[in-house]
Order: sequence, then C-alpha cells, then structure tokens
Amino acid sequence: MSIMRQSSIMPVGIDDLAIYIPKLYLDYRDFAEARGIDPQKLEYGIGIRKMTIVDTNQDSACMAANACLKLMQRNHLEPNDIGRLYVATESGLDESKAMNSFVVGMLEQIYGEDSFEHAGGIECKFACVSGSYALYDNANWIRAEENNNKAAIVVVSDIAKYDVGSSGEYTQGAGAVAMLIKEVPRLLSFDPKVTSTTIKNEYDFYRPFGKETPLVNGTYSNLLYLIQVRKAFDSYKEKAIRTGLIRINDGESITDHIDLFTVHLPYRKMGEKALAYLLRHEWRTLPRWDSVIKEIGFAEPVPKDPRGTIESILADTEFMKADERFRKSFMQTSFYNEVYEKKMSSSLEASSIIGNLYTASMYMGFRSLLEYEDKKNHNIEGKRIGFGSYGSGSSAMVFSGVIQPAYKEIVKGMNLEEEIGSRTKLSMDQYQGLRENERNLNDSYVRAKDEFVLVRIGGSTADKAGVREYCYCN
Ligand code: COA
Repeated sequence: MSIMRQSSIMPVGIDDLAIYIPKLYLDYRDFAEARGIDPQKLEYGIGIRKMTIVDTNQDSACMAANACLKLMQRNHLEPNDIGRLYVATESGLDESKAMNSFVVGMLEQIYGEDSFEHAGGIECKFACVSGSYALYDNANWIRAEENNNKAAIVVVSDIAKYDVGSSGEYTQGAGAVAMLIKEVPRLLSFDPKVTSTTIKNEYDFYRPFGKETPLVNGTYSNLLYLIQVRKAFDSYKEKAIRTGLIRINDGESITDHIDLFTVHLPYRKMGEKALAYLLRHEWRTLPRWDSVIKEIGFAEPVPKDPRGTIESILADTEFMKADERFRKSFMQTSFYNEVYEKKMSSSLEASSIIGNLYTASMYMGFRSLLEYEDKKNHNIEGKRIGFGSYGSGSSAMVFSGVIQPAYKEIVKGMNLEEEIGSRTKLSMDQYQGLRENERNLNDSYVRAKDEFVLVRIGGSTADKAGVREYCYCN
C-alpha cells in the first residue's frame, strides 16, 4: 500500500530492538498429559508449543537488564548516548523503587558507577499496555527536542504466571524486549498524530498487593480486549482520515491500508481472533460483506440488545453461541485467510514457542513479524504496521508506523531460536518444584553465562530487608 503523505514532523520511532528469553521451558505435550488436557487443544486451540519458565535466579528486572545490555552492545551505545531508560512491567518487584533503577544498577556493573546518572526514567504500569504508553511518551520527548541528542530505551519485561491447575496456566511465559527510540530510526517510524486510546475501570484481570498470581476472568477479559481495541481503532481511523495519513475510497476499509498487524498476544490464538473481530467490524457495512456471507452460508447473528453492556452480551447465551459459530466460520473463509496469511501470520510465530509475555507480547510479535516476513522473502520497506495494544483494567492503544529503508540491515540474520539460545526442557516434576519454591535462589537449573542474575534478596541486617542484589556472570 502506498503512503499518502510524508509528514513534516521529525520522524521518530524504533531504531532497533533486542530480546531476552529465559532458557527453561515446558513442552505442551508434557503439560497436557499432566493436566489431562488434549494436546491438540494447546497446540491449536491456544497456540502454544513451548512455554518459557524463569529459573530460580531470574526476575523481571534481570531479564530487562539482559535485553537492554544486548541492545546497547550490538549498537555500540555508551550510557552517554541514552537520555531515558523506561521499564514497563506488571511484574513489579517493589511498591516504591522503580524497576529501571535496578536495571541501571546492573548496567553500571558493566559501564561503571554513575555512568547513567545524567539519564532519567520511570517504571510504568498498566497491565500489558504500559509499554505502548512508554514508547509514546518517549517518542514525544524526542519530538519535543528535550532529549539533547540522546536516545531513549524502553524495556518491556514480564513473567506471566497463573495459578497451578487454572485455565490461565497454559498461557504462561516470560521474557523481555528492549527498544531503542530515536529520531530518524532505521526500523520503524511512528505515524504522528494518530495514536488513539481508550480507558475504563474494569476488573477483568488484576493482581492485588502481595498476590503472586492474577485473578482472571478470561472470557470477559478476551471480549473486553476485542471491544476496547476496536474502539481505539475507530478513533485511530477518524484521526488517520482527518490528518490525511490515510484516504479511504468507496468500498474500501481502513484495514486495506494497513499492510501488517501486530496485536497484544496473551496467546497466539487471541491474535487470530482479534483480527477476525476487527475485520468483521470494518467489513460488515461494505459491499464485500455480501460475498463473505455467501461463503459462510448464514447471516451474522445480532445480540438481543445490540446496545447492551459487555455483561448483557455475555449473558445472552443464545447470541454468544451463534456468534462463536459465525466467528469460526468467518475464520475459515478465503476473505479472512487471505488477510491473515498476508498481514498477521508472521507476527504470531514467536508466541507459540515462548508463551505470554504480558507487556512484551506485542513487541515480541513485532520482532516475529520482522523475522518471518524476511524468511518469506517479503520486502516490507514502506509498509504500514498497525499495532493493537491492550492492558487489562483496562486500556487499549492503537497506533501505526512505517518500516524504514534501513530495516534490512536490522533484520538480516534475525533468528529467534538462535537468539534465545539452547533451552532446557523442564519435566513437570521440576516445574512443580519451581512453583513450590523447593529450590533456593542459587540452585538454578541453568548455569548463567554472559548475563545478569539475581544473587540475593535481603541481607543479614534489617537495613538490607528487600534489597535485591544482582551480578553479571561471565
Ligand atoms: N482440539 C483443538 N482445539 C480445542 C480442543 C481440542 N481438543 N478443545 C478445545 N479447543 C479450543 C476451543 O474450541 C477454544 O477455541 P476458540 O477460542 O476458537 O473457541 C480454545 O481451545 C480454548 O478453549 P476454551 O475451553 O474455550 O477455553 P479455556 O477454558 O481453555 O480458557 C483462556 C482459555 C484463554 C480463556 C484461558 O487460558 C485464560 O483465561 N488465559 C488467561 C488469558 C489472560 O490472561 N487474559 C488477560 C490479558 S489479555
């Protein structure tokens, strides 16, 4: 698709990104057997094959520091090149001390004491969406020229951990993505003036103070995700048309003008469903919808109260059942599959072998998109990427960006499996032991090499209570 208008605003966006994924995983077949679930449900119904698990000596801060260090080393960056370091997470380690301060402490073990003192930043929280707010705020910090020629780093880092035996347990995972935000970026330039958000006080997924695992209403949360992202997308569309970024001709949908999609991925299948929901919303008033309905063979159901609340729609069981049937049929159509293959499938590959990353999941999806589009020999220079970010509680953010000519030097040689490194498969007994904290912090399964690990929490004296100590293992 062609880009209608180049903005005169200074291009700002993602210059490069680096990932860190812990080395332990659960195989879906072992998990299915232990929990008495059909493995096909996990592989196809959820879309998970390997679920990442953190070792005894890992937490969200050291994963963030590891991703950040990789990003800095491969771009030959010094602390002086960085003006802001943000960490977005919902796996916070302290009620007051921000996670980026832990990360700075770790990085200064490499770069020298006080080497980041000139910089700034905070820890951001809003379930899985906060990384997108962090990117937006840092992009604007650069656009406002407050950055004194320095770049920002935004790290998204999380451990998705659910109650043992719950339906959320097969949507676990862990990892971090660090992104370098700069003017004239090599990878992706954010489209200006179109970022759109929604916000609503909700309890679809939350984790009260002191609780290690979230309280989740999965079905409600999934529907809320779809509705909130769709509302943010409506607002994005209005802005994109008003600012002249995108022009929609008769019979066209805005989805025709977005070349690739990456969305929040609590699990792979959710991405597929989000695309279906969005396409149905965008296409049902267009001439092409008649052909879609013809292929499906029956009409799209309508709720008893189309203007009702999420609760009333969920309580309309007759509609929910009919809508599920329609959604599944829609996802079988040639219309859906053409868009899915062309615009979304590449972004979903990483999720199947890593699992849920909360804040990092959409950005790992972006990383996946870059690599798998390249593997398909697709040249995506100049293509517009649409981002659909969702955080429970709840807020959605929709924005877009355009792939820059220099992206090829970044994606060259990208290989997810290689970058993750060799992994150790955990038995279900070992996993159970980790969940029950049977092993102490220094009794890790994997011997860490060239990375930060947690070595102690709290010293022997009261003034060290809660103090976390990390070291870099050579
Ligand atoms: N073979 C293939 N597919 C199968 C199957 C089988 N034998 N058995 C079931 N499935 C499919 C179901 O049809 C369903 O597919 P659909 O989504 O296309 O309808 C899918 O597997 C999931 O099964 P279902 O029984 O509907 O759900 P569940 O009880 O397993 O729960 C979640 C799934 C996602 C709701 C649950 O894992 C969860 O709550 N996860 C946490 C999500 C979260 O954290 N959300 C908040 C942040 S966004």
